[in-house]
Amino acid sequence: MMAPTAPPVTAAVEAVDVVRRYQLDGVAVEALRGVSLRIEHGEFAAVVGPSGSGKSTLMHLLGCLDRPTSGVLRVGGVEVSRLSESELAGLRNRTIGFVFQSFHLMGRTSALDNVALPLVYRGVGRAERRSRAAAALESVGLGHRMRHRPSQMSGGEQQRVAIARALVGEPEVLLADEPTGNLDTRNGVEVMAMLDRLNEERGVAVVLVTHEPEIAAHARRQIHVRDGLIEQDTVSRP
Ligand SMILES: Nc1ncnc2c1ncn2[C@@H]1O[C@H](COP(=O)(O)OP(=O)(O)O)[C@@H](O)[C@H]1O
Ligand SMILES: [Mg+2]
Repeated sequence: MMAPTAPPVTAAVEAVDVVRRYQLDGVAVEALRGVSLRIEHGEFAAVVGPSGSGKSTLMHLLGCLDRPTSGVLRVGGVEVSRLSESELAGLRNRTIGFVFQSFHLMGRTSALDNVALPLVYRGVGRAERRSRAAAALESVGLGHRMRHRPSQMSGGEQQRVAIARALVGEPEVLLADEPTGNLDTRNGVEVMAMLDRLNEERGVAVVLVTHEPEIAAHARRQIHVRDGLIEQDTVSRP
């Protein structure tokens, strides 16, 4: 008789002893000094820590927007260092959604076209791009704003467009670097409700950087970063 199949052991994203050193005017800055971290499928984690501690650097690495100086980074079990730039871009496009504090939208392009853009890189045809982008905008409550440009929208609406863009490709992992940092409390609450729902209903793993304890409390897991190291990693609820 065969043994029962073991559950998948591959993390959604994983860093092993990752170092990221920047050169600034000939001076080396070690933003990350040896970080190991597994983000499991469907997890919800908050990354907290003082300004300059390396949180954004960590997010950029987990999101494959940057490569480590040393150490190993795996996305869905695939070691990133083995991939060419275009393979890496493809993996990122299929697996990871990124939401930034400052939205990073194209201000003079419609919400619909902003959200459809990741599908352009994936070679999805125009009609399907438009219907999937429309569905993503509807899922963040912006079905009535599809033709509007981000420059005509409030900050809360812009961040919801950015979330729709991050979701349109149905990522495994959503990385959000201070997504409520430029929003007032009410819009922050709405954005967080969206991230909660994505995690609960669609099983998207969410990693969220925040300064605010109330925001961090949405996550079951709290990862404390200080001086380029993880100083504490705790799970508050099962
Ligand atoms: N592109 C860069 N070039 C040089 N130094 C950088 C760069 N990005 C970040 N750093 C430095 O790395 C450290 C960590 O920065 P960062 O990851 O942005 O921290 P946090 O997001 O926690 O505020 C800081 O000392 C910062 O100045
Ligand atoms: Mg930062």
